[in-house]
Amino acid sequence: MSRLKRAVVSQFGKPRGFWGALAGWIMATRPSNRLRNSWTVDLLEIRATDRVLEIGYGPGFALEGACRRASAGKVVGLDHSPSMGAMAARRNRAAVASGRFQLEIGPIEALKEPSAPAFATPFDRIFAVNVVMFWNDPVAAIGILESRLAARGRIALTFQPRIGERTDAAALAAAETMACQMRDAGLAEVRIETLDRVSPMAVCVMGTKTGIGK
Ligand SMILES: C[S@@+](CC[C@H](N)C(=O)[O-])C[C@H]1O[C@@H](n2cnc3c(N)ncnc32)[C@H](O)[C@@H]1O
Repeated sequence: MSRLKRAVVSQFGKPRGFWGALAGWIMATRPSNRLRNSWTVDLLEIRATDRVLEIGYGPGFALEGACRRASAGKVVGLDHSPSMGAMAARRNRAAVASGRFQLEIGPIEALKEPSAPAFATPFDRIFAVNVVMFWNDPVAAIGILESRLAARGRIALTFQPRIGERTDAAALAAAETMACQMRDAGLAEVRIETLDRVSPMAVCVMGTKTGIGK
């Protein structure tokens, strides 16, 4: 990969500064991005009283939909980019003011810290959209998410190829890999959903904490 391409890709992995703000703007406005995010939120079947966590919220578009659905619950976002924290807070100003919505800045490993108040109570729904490709050890990362899930809670991981091979075949292959990783991390009832109204297609792998997965 060329140096320029690497620099652009890194802005989507941890947006910062001017180029990070531009990456955030692209993520928030690109129709296929918006569609795969709202599709993921729909798939989660969030109930009014649910506690919901999004990892890698970027500009905070999906959080908006999650807040609407969890109207009497709690929605928490975790992203390691302070620039995205600021952007998502601006987008969700009213929800932040309501007290039912909380944005945290930090890596996924922050969830391992049991004393962090935002993460202390288990979540009913946890999701991440186009974040899994930045995890060095996906099984360990999914294991961390599983540990923060309530009984019968669900995880949804959505992926749409944006770099490398941008094809439906690459999306489906990634879905199969993520499904195996979810089972390895102890989740059960793992299933794959596809969204072919975007190109290349987006895939969402969902799993449930049943306590009998491992
Ligand atoms: C490609 S963007 C996707 C943003 C949003 N989910 C969307 O689909 O528009 C990836 C986001 O995940 C965040 N991210 C990547 N790796 C992360 C990690 N290990 N812990 C927390 N956030 C992470 C980045 O900062 C970035 O905001």
